[in-house]
Amino acid sequence: MTVHIGAKPGDIAETVLMPGDPYRAKWAAETFLEGAELVNEVRGMLGFTGTWRGNRVTIQGSGMGMPSLSIYANELMMEYGAQTLIRIGSCGGMQPHVGIRDVIIAMTASTITSPSSGIFRELNYAPCADWGLLRAAVTAAEKMDAKTHVGGIYSSDVFYAERPDLDEQMVRHGILGVEMEAAELYTLAARHKRRALAVLTVSDHLQTGEALPSEDREKSFGDMVEIALEAAFA
Ligand code: HPA
Repeated sequence: MTVHIGAKPGDIAETVLMPGDPYRAKWAAETFLEGAELVNEVRGMLGFTGTWRGNRVTIQGSGMGMPSLSIYANELMMEYGAQTLIRIGSCGGMQPHVGIRDVIIAMTASTITSPSSGIFRELNYAPCADWGLLRAAVTAAEKMDAKTHVGGIYSSDVFYAERPDLDEQMVRHGILGVEMEAAELYTLAARHKRRALAVLTVSDHLQTGEALPSEDREKSFGDMVEIALEAAFA
């Protein structure tokens, strides 16, 4: 047990999928895993371990934002030995060619600041995905009928942003979407020599204001979970 995870040693698989929402962890575990068992419920941040095509997988909520994700990712890597960590979550689309329901596989994740900023000082570190996972995810997405984009995303500290000038520069520089966790996950994975990736579903669009109706969410999020699982065990 760690400060924030109540699982026993050995309850957590080497491969961990991390949605922000603990209820999405429950849904994904019930939908995709066999024999899923609840392994954590400290603070309601649900985690489940089961198997997918015979491979052990944990699906553990990360909470929203990089400080929350940092707690769970650190404990998963340092205390439970997690080796492959894949964020599954939603993001806001930032380019005209990125549509609602599309999948974004994040090659890089830019930030202004993250829990790790303090150690980098003047270095503008570029958090990037594990290449093997990224490649496997792209291959899996191509085999499925999921419309997929691969490129840079932005990990924000705020959902309710107040900087239209910043959005403008990101759009100008090709950032595909915005979410709130991937940059710190990539940074921690690099630090601890683990593999990390973020596979995201576009749930809303910053320019068009469009948003995914709740009844469409499951199918769209399902593609993302399948891509993540295929990539983890490719
Ligand atoms: N901003 C930040 N995070 C998000 C968004 C957004 O618009 N949509 C989904 N996650």
